[in-house]
Amino acid sequence: MPTVLITGASRGIGFEFAHQYAVDGWSVHGCVRDPAQAGALRALSGGLVTVHKLDVTRHDQIAEVATILKDTPIDLLINNAGMWIGEDEHFGRFNNEQWMEQFRVHVFGTMAMCEAFVDHVATSEKKLMVNISSGNGCFGWPRDTGDYPYDTSKAALNLITKGLSTDLRDRGITVMCFTPGNVATDMSGPDADLQPGESITGMRRVIAHLDASQTGSFVRYNGEIMPW
Ligand SMILES: NC(=O)c1ccc[n+]([C@@H]2O[C@H](COP(=O)([O-])OP(=O)(O)OC[C@H]3O[C@@H](n4cnc5c(N)ncnc54)[C@H](OP(=O)(O)O)[C@@H]3O)[C@@H](O)[C@H]2O)c1
Repeated sequence: MPTVLITGASRGIGFEFAHQYAVDGWSVHGCVRDPAQAGALRALSGGLVTVHKLDVTRHDQIAEVATILKDTPIDLLINNAGMWIGEDEHFGRFNNEQWMEQFRVHVFGTMAMCEAFVDHVATSEKKLMVNISSGNGCFGWPRDTGDYPYDTSKAALNLITKGLSTDLRDRGITVMCFTPGNVATDMSGPDADLQPGESITGMRRVIAHLDASQTGSFVRYNGEIMPW
């Protein structure tokens, strides 16, 4: 069966990806910041999930997991780890350190993951890298207010997705990014539009049909093309 590696698998969207791929019998590597709190992840599908300690801002931890898995082809790398600081995202409320932290997670962390795992993905059958972005990273997306650290770091994530899609084309790797919709997780709260199951089922459907012609694309969870 194929293998998937997911960052931010402790809860929310990352956990649901792990759940659904485990149910389908995939080999799942779930990366979490605190493995001691990952009992539910470990228990998925009777223990088919391997848990790794990995904070995407800790490039030493990224390198360690890449070494542990050096002989494991990874069909699908999902860069999902993310953060949002609520109203502190708004004009006049955040400081440079909070802004930088979102770049560390969404941009530098994703890039470091793609660099560390490029050989694992290139030696796999499917050769897919998927970045979980947001409509907030889209210039044309309607918005009520600026979530400055989140919006700019997700826009940068979209741009590195474009760059990676070009740079990794010769290695046969397809790289794309998703907006998962407004999903009921700790980030968006219980009243969001979609339950995680619906969003992840949609993204998995898109992923199942990805091919090289779609590299560098930005897609909604339901397959609609997003404007940049
Ligand atoms: N929910 C939505 O409506 C929505 C909409 C658009 C985009 N997204 C994107 O979807 C992704 C998942 O969001 P979610 O809704 O599932 O949020 P969530 O429930 O808040 O979960 C965030 C996940 O990211 C992990 N994480 C945060 N910082 C990390 C770091 N430095 N290193 C590794 N893992 C880290 C968290 O781990 P801990 O448990 O250790 O904190 C947790 O597993 C994010 O990239 C988010 O921007 C979500």
